[in-house]
Amino acid sequence: MPRLSSLTVAAAAVLMLFGAGAASARNIDAIKKSGTIIVATEGQYAPFNFFEGSKLTGFEVELMEGVAKKMGLKIEWKTLGFDALLTGLGQDRWDVVIASHGITEERAKAVTFTNPHYCSGGAIVTKNPDLKTAERLAGKVLAVQTGTSYLESAQKIPGVKEVKNFPKDPDAQAAVMSGRADAWITDKFVALDVLKNNKGAGLRATGMLFVEKIAAAVAKGNQGVADAYNKALADYMAKGGGYETLSMKYFGEDVRCK
Ligand code: ARG
Repeated sequence: MPRLSSLTVAAAAVLMLFGAGAASARNIDAIKKSGTIIVATEGQYAPFNFFEGSKLTGFEVELMEGVAKKMGLKIEWKTLGFDALLTGLGQDRWDVVIASHGITEERAKAVTFTNPHYCSGGAIVTKNPDLKTAERLAGKVLAVQTGTSYLESAQKIPGVKEVKNFPKDPDAQAAVMSGRADAWITDKFVALDVLKNNKGAGLRATGMLFVEKIAAAVAKGNQGVADAYNKALADYMAKGGGYETLSMKYFGEDVRCK
């Protein structure tokens, strides 16, 4: 049996060490060296991230393109189910997730959030003009997307008859449009977009049930990537940096956190 030289053993030990590190997340130097940042989103959440034909676009997609440009990086996009996005960060499958995640304590245990890129909140979308407040939802059937802060908030409303959850938000929307649910809880700006595109469907939206700060996320503790992103985001959000124009294009107002 060939004897292993001490050099080989040392090399193997180094490989194991760095191999294990790399399996958790790429650091900023590795990303810069490759020239490309891998970004995951859902692609089913208009107007934030969605497909126009085969083209991935939306407020967050364009924002990320602007931020990456300021970082001097190209983007490789991945689109996956909402539920899979944050988990993939810790498995080194992508470097950043941008998919309208509200910053919550629970999520912050598993990932590191960047600075927020907009503020919004959950609204009630319904055909029933009586359902104007959370209290009025007692005895009603609600539709929400799985894994979202809307699911959590829906489950907390007292007396709700049933909370149906759907892997994709447009399916929750479909449930309320077809009458399988009385109300859909979703983002205020998603709701406004749906109302605008479905005039005559008899849908209405209420004010916000709660407010949340929406941010991108990196693997837990991958601070170098978060710092580089935050710096580029600050440039992007500064006067003339691109944010205001983009926000006006999608929403007709500036949606940054005030
Ligand atoms: N803002 C909500 C949350 O934090 C919903 C996000 C849904 N995003 C999506 N890409 N479907 O859970």
